[in-house]
Amino acid sequence: MELIYQGKKSVEEILELSKCSPDAYKIEKERNLFFFGDNFKALSVLLAQGLKGSIDLIYIDPPYNTNQVFTVSEGERSSTISRTKSSNTLIAYNDNFTLSNYLEFMRERLFLIRELLSDIGSLYVHIDSKMGHYLKLILDEVFGADNFINDISRIKSNPKNFSRRAYGNEKDIVLFYAKNHKKNIFNNVTEPLSEDDKIRMFNKVDGAGRRYNTVPVHAPGETVNGDTGREWKGMLPPKGRHWRVSPKELDELDAKNLIEWSKNGVPRIKKFADEHKGKKIQDVWTFKDPAYPIYPTEKNLQMLEMIIAQSSNQDSIVLDCFAGSGSTLKMAEKLGRQWIGVDISPVSLNVVQKNLEKIDFQLIKLD
Ligand SMILES: C[S@@+](CC[C@H](N)C(=O)[O-])C[C@H]1O[C@@H](n2cnc3c(N)ncnc32)[C@H](O)[C@@H]1O
Repeated sequence: MELIYQGKKSVEEILELSKCSPDAYKIEKERNLFFFGDNFKALSVLLAQGLKGSIDLIYIDPPYNTNQVFTVSEGERSSTISRTKSSNTLIAYNDNFTLSNYLEFMRERLFLIRELLSDIGSLYVHIDSKMGHYLKLILDEVFGADNFINDISRIKSNPKNFSRRAYGNEKDIVLFYAKNHKKNIFNNVTEPLSEDDKIRMFNKVDGAGRRYNTVPVHAPGETVNGDTGREWKGMLPPKGRHWRVSPKELDELDAKNLIEWSKNGVPRIKKFADEHKGKKIQDVWTFKDPAYPIYPTEKNLQMLEMIIAQSSNQDSIVLDCFAGSGSTLKMAEKLGRQWIGVDISPVSLNVVQKNLEKIDFQLIKLD
């Protein structure tokens, strides 16, 4: 299955276009890097410099083909974002394509992104629902449909009260792919329980004011020879079940008052709300974007932090080749990852230099 449109190049043509001399730019690979220029060129330079297969996480938030001009206002503490150009505004970036040009622009870069990703790597593509469905087909073509992992709905704003005949739009989407869906880094980052969750799931409170619930001391499945099938305090586990932990460990829990005994002498293990590992993160996220962005379409930092913690390791390189304000780079730095950013906009370069002022990186200006 593939999407057909005018001007679609063969993979060979794209890879041919990306060829460049390894000596064209001097890059210090062990440092963070920021390329100022077109990301097709930047990705090509990285490939030519031997970074093929070495990036564990790529997050991109490209233009959405909105047919708009994104600007920042000059001379204000916090820039306001206007979509039309007026005398006191600077163009941050121009989002004007035909549909087929846009799709090919993205597809060319996605091929290079795939080449750069490591075997345990992941790609997150942030997009809206107008372009997202086209990009899903292109991503399936480039990465293989098997490597599609999630289509995440991201609640980006407060509810809208549109006058047009439509439902309010408060979400965009994040398409999550792996280079190889059997190997991608996924650290099982969880979401902390809310106060409501704690009250609902842990309905008892102990003398110290800690919320808890209890679970049986036994679990399904019989142990034939192991400790968890042995007698404990004169009892055997019920038929078809085994003790959750060995009798020795049950004694230790009991000594620490971590077993609750009912009036009829039935023991249950106490589980505390403050020791809960958190909830599995689902595919609907609420991460609203800043109300006063310093750059148009600047994304929520906590969302980026979560993505980086989830899909990269301490020794990973994180890349954002539509870097904008440098939000991904800032969070990669916070989590101790090496990072590479790219943006073509002088406004972005200016904001990134301010945003990452105290952070070491090599700036590479592309021709
Ligand atoms: C949606 S914004 C990214 C916002 C960013 N995620 C943030 O949180 O600030 C898209 C960015 O892509 C950049 N861009 C567009 N075309 C590009 C290209 N060919 N090469 C590099 N950057 C490009 C634009 O200048 C713009 O900064």
